[in-house]
Amino acid sequence: MKKRNIVVANWKMNPETLEEAKKVFNGARLAAKGLKNTDVVVCPPFSFIFPLSKVIYPKNMFLGAQNASTEIKGAFTGEISVEMIKNLSAKFVIVGHSERRAMGESNEIVRKKLQITFNTGLTPILCIGEKERDKEGTHLAFIKNQIKECLADLHKKYLVGIIIAYEPIWAIGKSYKEAMSPTDIHVIVLYIRKVLAEICGRDIANSAKILYGGSVESQNALEILEIGNVEGFLVGHASLKPEEFKEILQTADVKK
Ligand code: PGA
Repeated sequence: MKKRNIVVANWKMNPETLEEAKKVFNGARLAAKGLKNTDVVVCPPFSFIFPLSKVIYPKNMFLGAQNASTEIKGAFTGEISVEMIKNLSAKFVIVGHSERRAMGESNEIVRKKLQITFNTGLTPILCIGEKERDKEGTHLAFIKNQIKECLADLHKKYLVGIIIAYEPIWAIGKSYKEAMSPTDIHVIVLYIRKVLAEICGRDIANSAKILYGGSVESQNALEILEIGNVEGFLVGHASLKPEEFKEILQTADVKK
């Protein structure tokens, strides 16, 4: 069966008002309507999820959270549980984004978040990616270790169709000119599948959806999709610009 492409909009800590959030969401909603082979997941800050869930949006569009607690409920000041996220009618959770890892989230914490997200019936989007690269290829060992530790002891039934967003940290938040080259992305995509096959078996490796994130803009989206051989993107800053995001979505929908 052909896999649908998926484009995740990670708004991060933007925008400041609900009014603006509605505008950005509306742009994504209109663009999502015309897509045939692509799902769109919009991940706003927590405070906007509920009001946006009241907007009518197409079937191929979903709300997601940018993070979730490792705990189910209780005395965890400032945390939001997966159950709460589910009750806001969000379906996805970004887990292990590099900006959260930079705040101290270890692979072990990411693993717990994956487990609790799967248990609740939500779909996690696991983020991985190295801080820097060197000629010796230590980044490959780093990525392998991230995958191994994040997926350790997770039941295989959950891992079928797992969504992994590969986001090299050095390429995040820049312009398309500084994104990773599509050929390099292709090499990493093959590598991630190889590691998945080693750890979880070939079927799971083949079923995984691998996305690229890190300065995806309308200018580089097509090349990344075609040459990088990914099944979609995780888009940060460009997802806040409706026209730009629309172009990215249309590009994602072109290639199957
Ligand atoms: P960017 O962010 O598209 O602004 O590089 C991607 C991300 O961090 O998820």
